[in-house]
Amino acid sequence: MKFFVSLLKNTNPKIEYYSRFSPSPLSIKQFLDFGRDNACEKTSYVFLRKELPVRLANTMREVNLLPDNLLSQPSIRLVQKWYMQSFVELLDYENRKPEDSHVLNDFLELLIEIRNRHNDVVPTMAQGVTEYKERFGFDPFISSNIQYFLDRFYTNRISFRMLINQHTLLFGNDTNPAHPKHIGSIDPNCSVAEVVSDAYDTAKMLCEKYYLASPELKIEEFNKTIESMWDLTEPFKSRPAGVRNHLLMEGGIQVKAPKKPIQVVYVPSHLFHMLFELFKNSMRATVELHENSKEGLPPIKAKVTLGKEDLSIKISDKGGGVPLRKIDRLFNYMYSTAPTPSLEPGAVPLAGFGYGLPISRLYARYFQGDLKLYSMEGVGTDAVIYLKALSSESFERLPVFNKSAWRHYKTSPEADDWSNPSKEPRDASKSKYKANR
Ligand SMILES: Nc1ncnc2c1ncn2[C@@H]1O[C@H](COP(=O)(O)OP(=O)(O)O)[C@@H](O)[C@H]1O
Ligand SMILES: [Mg+2]
Repeated sequence: MKFFVSLLKNTNPKIEYYSRFSPSPLSIKQFLDFGRDNACEKTSYVFLRKELPVRLANTMREVNLLPDNLLSQPSIRLVQKWYMQSFVELLDYENRKPEDSHVLNDFLELLIEIRNRHNDVVPTMAQGVTEYKERFGFDPFISSNIQYFLDRFYTNRISFRMLINQHTLLFGNDTNPAHPKHIGSIDPNCSVAEVVSDAYDTAKMLCEKYYLASPELKIEEFNKTIESMWDLTEPFKSRPAGVRNHLLMEGGIQVKAPKKPIQVVYVPSHLFHMLFELFKNSMRATVELHENSKEGLPPIKAKVTLGKEDLSIKISDKGGGVPLRKIDRLFNYMYSTAPTPSLEPGAVPLAGFGYGLPISRLYARYFQGDLKLYSMEGVGTDAVIYLKALSSESFERLPVFNKSAWRHYKTSPEADDWSNPSKEPRDASKSKYKANR
């Protein structure tokens, strides 16, 4: 086993070479501009054949800094094998000329293969962390390293898939006829309320399957960038039926909604992912708290707002909330990995995997946004997704393998510099002993 670990650690010099480059972050606007104006497959190929190995190598160097006991878990070794194989396959293209049309086709097919190979990276890593925790227990220093690592590793993976998807959607045959206006995976006019309502509907189906009931949704929009008067009926009529059903109504008239639906240039699948996770959580909390109440289930409220800088989406529930002490924990991978629900193949659980919040926050942060939970214990929770309103500001936020990342894994924690009520002051017993002597 030791031998295998060291074999993986003495990685090939190419990993060393590519990891010395920092990844090049792109903004949504750059993705869009490139994909829109006669996107050139050769240019994309030349960029990706270097950028993909750079991003892989950066994260592979970091994997090697994890403790040996974790690296030797079978699931983690499997993930490392996938990364190594994909890295080596990409290197095949280092010197292959883009002028040869076979090269471009082969490269595109390779990208699809790599994407499929890496489909199960998240549950497999989670499995590895669980195996490790079962064998070696919970150590706060290791846990904080694993947290730091997984946030960076999964962000790297999101970015890797973003690059692959843009290339294969723009130049491959898997273009999506349902969304002819999308540029790869980006919707230049992504209507936020529509995604909110889709994510709600999908979560509602799951919720009803488990609980035979589900809370209603009410959506409000505030577009602060539009100074014009509210138009109370027109925008309502122009909305898709799905959104209309949920828009807050008062006496049959839409209230507080601005003239123009709030839109953003964004990756709708990312937004859907985050909202779907938030709705599942809110529904579960709401139903479990109010299942037997006479008043029925309090609705979930979604508020979409647009300012000059931020586009914010708040999902509010009356599901009883979470105490402040536990909020950070909800984003912790070590806390959430156990107990993993036993899954029938193809089944989608309403909850239990425990990665809903941490991964959703990574999606939000990936394009310079964030996801935060504000809870009032006893009443309910507000979850807020922040996105950059401008696509020119939504740059990829990417982990870089460098000295300060390295230091993060190697420096052991300092003594706590705030008082801790559960422990006696470190020197108290000693001085007492001295005084008694
Ligand atoms: N809106 C909410 N109200 C109450 N508890 C919540 C809410 N959102 C999340 N939680 C708590 O946080 C935990 C972690 O959430 P998540 O990361 O989505 O994983 P999972 O839903 O699979 O457990 C949930 O199990 C739940 O205990
Ligand atoms: Mg969840």
